[in-house]
Amino acid sequence: MTKPLKLALVDTDPAELKVDAVVIGVHSGTPLLLASGAESVTAAFDGRLTETLTLLGATGTPGEVVKLATLGTITAPVLAAVGLGPEPAGAAPPAETLRRAAGAAVRALAGCATVALALPVPDDDDGPAALRALAEGAVLGGYRFDGYKTKPQPGRREPVGTVSVHVPDARDRAARAELARAGVVGAAVTRCRDWVNTAPNDLRPPAFADTVAAAAAPAGLDVQVLDEKALRAGGYGGILAVGQGSAAPPRLVRLAYTPPGPVTRRVALVGKGITFDSGGLSIKPAQGMWEMKSDMAGAAAVASTVIAAAELKLPVAVTGYLPMAENMPSGTSYRPGDVVTMYNGKRVEVLNTDAEGRLVLGDAIARACEDNPDYLLEVSTLTGGQVVALGKRVAGVMGSESLCQRVHQAGEAVGEPIWPMPLPEEVRTSMDSDVADILQISAGMDRAGHMLQGGIFLREFVAEGVPWAHIDIAGPSYHSGEPTGYLTKGGTGVPVRALLHLLDEIAGEDRGGGQ
Ligand code: BES
Ligand code: MN
Ligand code: ZN
Repeated sequence: MTKPLKLALVDTDPAELKVDAVVIGVHSGTPLLLASGAESVTAAFDGRLTETLTLLGATGTPGEVVKLATLGTITAPVLAAVGLGPEPAGAAPPAETLRRAAGAAVRALAGCATVALALPVPDDDDGPAALRALAEGAVLGGYRFDGYKTKPQPGRREPVGTVSVHVPDARDRAARAELARAGVVGAAVTRCRDWVNTAPNDLRPPAFADTVAAAAAPAGLDVQVLDEKALRAGGYGGILAVGQGSAAPPRLVRLAYTPPGPVTRRVALVGKGITFDSGGLSIKPAQGMWEMKSDMAGAAAVASTVIAAAELKLPVAVTGYLPMAENMPSGTSYRPGDVVTMYNGKRVEVLNTDAEGRLVLGDAIARACEDNPDYLLEVSTLTGGQVVALGKRVAGVMGSESLCQRVHQAGEAVGEPIWPMPLPEEVRTSMDSDVADILQISAGMDRAGHMLQGGIFLREFVAEGVPWAHIDIAGPSYHSGEPTGYLTKGGTGVPVRALLHLLDEIAGEDRGGGQ
């Protein structure tokens, strides 16, 4: 696994810190405004810092990083000013602004081994949230995947090694707990991104299952792996159909975390683990097909989340179900026209082998419901329709209304936007099959409301009475553009942080309360 950068707390004067670079914040405005946290650095510059930064082109726009040599004014040789946008009404800017600023600064400071963040962390109830945002943003922005380079790149600047966050009191218990949590969450996101970025020839279903099992063992999780024989014996028709075209057989991995104390809530997490999606016989165009190595991002996020839940000792039972298959065209592939008998006994008429995700997920969702969860959350790179409807940054969520609202709110809290979408009944009608119980996709392969068809189909496999949510992350799970904020190229780790936030919240529910 890529080593996440180290986090630390400091409360000594930022102007006197022996680090390679100090980061301060600037708010947009004329004149430029220095953010809180920068006071001692400003004093060291004898009132000329605003003027100097303005000369260098700083405007305080979010994402902007202006660096200058300090020439002995402060101890650190480099000062970086990161834009925080307009001055906030309250004590600190919004969490997402801080998260992005920390990420942008840490990316811009590659080559510096040690960096200190002298950014706004208020000395009140908003302090912990600001600290959490800065620490997470630093780890996420400092991530770089280079697992396949055979030699060091000449002139390449190494990612930042340690980030110290300046806080009012470095020994404060709440601050230390936040930093520890950010370390676990940062490692979880890093692990998820590494798996997504791994080449698909190195992560076919048996290898992916082994890798996940190896990562889960040290966290004390109970791990079960069903191989192709066990899947056949168990009647997992959906997973077997999708996997049958590949020389690498499918798997179903179950990871269970049981908290030490009494269990009051059980959460099932299901993640799509298509290690490569060629489309199968309904093959995809060559252009962009390589990105389908990321079609296991749901499984990666779920596995990473269960491991993190155990590391954080959350007082909630969490079980992950990861159906893994490689969707390939071959003489043994499943075909359009095939009828597949799923794990819950329903028969599905296949129309397009590229709509494989819902088949493996239907089986895994039905299996998850046998363990009687209080909530079921399923995460998948399910449809191109999600990207068309909501773009590359916003995921879609469908299912039980109140759970969808909670997923949405968790996403807002952590900067992983997830938008609720409807499940209209007429979409189900368009999936009536002449020969089987349901069509895999709408008749006539109508592309209208594609994302919703996925949700409607998966609903068939959720047991009566289980609150559920299907999160389609086709767009936000993979970043193909230039780095921005704390996003770098490749797997993003979405929605690990939203899931952990929601688990935290569910853990806080009283028995008999909630919904
Ligand atoms: N894995 C894809 C969805 C996808 C598209 C993920 C773009 C990430 C980025 C999924 O298996 C798929 O191929 N969906 C098809 C379904 C269609 C054939 C019914 C789609 O959405 O086009
Ligand atoms: Mn597909
Ligand atoms: Zn797929």
